[in-house]
This record gives sequence, structure tokens and C-alpha cells, in this order.
Amino acid sequence: MEEKQVLKRIERLTQLATLPEVLAQILKIADDPESPLDDLARVILKDVSLTARILSAANSAYYGRASEVSSIRDAIMTLGSRTVKAIALSVSIVNVIGRLDTQISLKTYWKHSLEVAIISELVAEKYGLKEKEEAYIAGIFHDIGILAMDACFPREYAHVWKSAQNGESLISLEESLFGTNHCRVGSYLLSMWKLPQVFSRSVYSHHDTVELKEPTNEQVIPQIVNLAERLAKYRLDIKSSLKDMEFDNSKVVMKNLGLTNTDMAEVEAEIIPKFLDAASFLEIEVGSPLELLTEANSRVFELYREIEELLEGFKKDTNYRDHIEYDRLAVEILHTVVATFSHYFNNACASMLGRAQLIEMALKKGELEDKKNILENSLIAIQNGVNNITGTIAELKQVKSFKTTLYHDKTLIIDLEDSLKKYKPKNAKIKARI
Ligand SMILES: [Fe+2]
Ligand SMILES: [Fe+2]
Repeated sequence: MEEKQVLKRIERLTQLATLPEVLAQILKIADDPESPLDDLARVILKDVSLTARILSAANSAYYGRASEVSSIRDAIMTLGSRTVKAIALSVSIVNVIGRLDTQISLKTYWKHSLEVAIISELVAEKYGLKEKEEAYIAGIFHDIGILAMDACFPREYAHVWKSAQNGESLISLEESLFGTNHCRVGSYLLSMWKLPQVFSRSVYSHHDTVELKEPTNEQVIPQIVNLAERLAKYRLDIKSSLKDMEFDNSKVVMKNLGLTNTDMAEVEAEIIPKFLDAASFLEIEVGSPLELLTEANSRVFELYREIEELLEGFKKDTNYRDHIEYDRLAVEILHTVVATFSHYFNNACASMLGRAQLIEMALKKGELEDKKNILENSLIAIQNGVNNITGTIAELKQVKSFKTTLYHDKTLIIDLEDSLKKYKPKNAKIKARI
């Protein structure tokens, strides 16, 4: 098949042919700094469900302010026209995608796309970009080409999808069967919808790795989405593994944007809460926090398993005698796994401590009866458990060499008992009462 045929079919697919008329008008008005606020309010009011969403966003803790916002005009003033545009676009795209006939799990699709969108927004903020909402929207759209190709060619795409799930490169599979890929198709679709070029450019290049001395203004958002794609933990196209993580390529994009590992760690700490907020606002099904943690946990387990395989491989490889390099690589991999692990578990710990604090307050106020000290003892157990998890993560981050550390399958383990007894986390909200 040739690209031309694919794009022709995309143009003819009625489910994708147009975005809602109201959205087109909003984009036009929101992009024009001269246009009065009332014009934007009037267009939004034409769409009842969008009006309701924007009012609820203005009143939500995420965007809102203390006093209640009851008119669309006030909502636009509170949120700013950029955010209103982002909400209108994301609500519309959720509706368009919901109408699509696709065999790909929308839950999996949204988990990945929303995470990429949230990371794009956080990275944009870190980069100091004014238009962080545009980075968010570009992230929301970035893989739409996959759904478009699947909707147009269900039989052929099923084959591509299945092979990709078994670890083959999705883009190479698409290119060999369709003469094009989801980046090009997605980008074409967005230009067909006449969306601003920044979105189609970001979609077009989200899997490319190009070294740049300094990105031009036009390249910044595409590079941000590209980095977010590499940082996202919920994967869509491949069973990601250490071999696929392309450490070096992520570093190239980070360097293009002038961002450091510390910047990335700060971004990472904010992903999950924002991700859950955005999913509930857009009413997208991504699974409960428990499901998300379970998935993350099994991914961490998979990574550990791969590390051990890799290390075993290195040990057996008679050509690989450079032990310093071996040790450096092993530590680098360990830190990646620890960062992944702490990303999810810090959030889980924060939520456990938050709940524990509520119970503690209720106990203090006498709102809960606890004659047998069951709750009191449970709080201490939770606190100790959380301390142990955060303490373990902190200790693993300190590992600088593997020369003296050992692996669990050989019943050898890093001995943390002593250091955990000494460990007192900086941010513990409840005082440990040991
Ligand atoms: Fe993606
Ligand atoms: Fe992609």
C-alpha cells in the first residue's frame, strides 16, 4: 500500500472528517488577541455540555479560585482564553475518539496519551514556556494516527498491532505495510482539521531523534512532546523493556531542551496526581489508582527481571571484560528502576499518609472512638511501613557501585536493616510514635 491511498481513506472516513463547528469557532476567536471576551462566551454558550465543563473547571480546585464562578464570562476570566481553548479541544477530541470504531483498547490509549499530555505540560512549565496548554494539547493528540489507521484498515492494522504487542517496532511494521506511519497520518489528520501547525508538527516528529544546537521557537513544543513520549510509563505500542528505553535518545532530547536529570525528577513527582485529575475532569476511564499502581508494580517487577537477565548476560559474555563499565551500566540501570519505582510509590505513600492524617485528626477531635487503640496502632504500622518504603528507595538511590552488593536470586541482598532503623524521612507528616 502507498501513503497516498492511506491518506485518501482517512479523508473519506466520516467519523473523522470534521471537528465540531463550535470548536472551529472557538479556536479562531481564542487565537485572536483582539477579539472581545463576550464573543468567546457567546460561542461557548452554544454548546451546553462544553459550557458545563468550562464552568466546572473554573470552579475546580485544579484551576479555580476561592469564590464561586457562575457565568461563562467569569469562567473565561478565571481560566484565561488559552485554558478555555485547551479544554474545548480536549473535550472535543475525547468525543471524536469515543465515536471511532477501533479495536484498540481506549483505556490503554487514553492512559498513554493523557500521561504524555501531562508530562508535556509539566516539561513545558519547567522549560519556562508560556504556552504550556499547547504542549498539553499536542500531547493529547500525539498518537491519534494509530486510531485513524486502525479505524480505516481494521484487518491490516490488527496484524500490525499484534506484532507490535509482541515487541516488534510499531513504526517499522506500519511503514512496511502502509508505506507510512501513525506520526505522518496523525499529522495529516490535524492539518485536515485545520488545527494550528504546532500540533501537526508535534505529532509528525514525536518518535524522531534529532540533535539540535538550540531549538527554534517552532521546534520547542514538538521536542517537549517527543521527550514526554520517552518518559511516559504507560506504554501503548510496545511492551517496553530496558532495551527499548533508549537512554541515549532521551538524553539527546533533554539536551536539546537544556533540561537536567533534576528537572526530570521534579516533573516526575507531579505526574500521577495531575494525571488522575485530568482523567476525572475529561471523564476518561483510565482505571482506579489501585489498578494503576498494580500495573506499575508489575512493570517494575519486569524491569528487575530484565536487569538480572542483562547482568547475567554480561557476566557470561567472555568478550565483556570491562568490569568498570559493567558496574557503571548496572548502577545506571538500577537508578532508572528506582526512579520508576519511587515515582509510583511516593504517590501511594503520600496518599496513605494523607488518609492517616485525617484519621489522626478525627481521633484527636474525639470524632472516632478507639477504646482498644486499634486505630492508633494501625497508624503507627502505616507510618512505619511508609518509612520503610521511602527509606529503602532513598538507600537504593545511594548505591554507587555493585562491587559489594548482591542479588536476591542468589539469596544475597543489600542489607538495609541498620540504615532503616536510623532513617527518618524529611517530609513525614505524622510523627512516628515508636
Ligand atoms: Fe505515544
Ligand atoms: Fe507514537
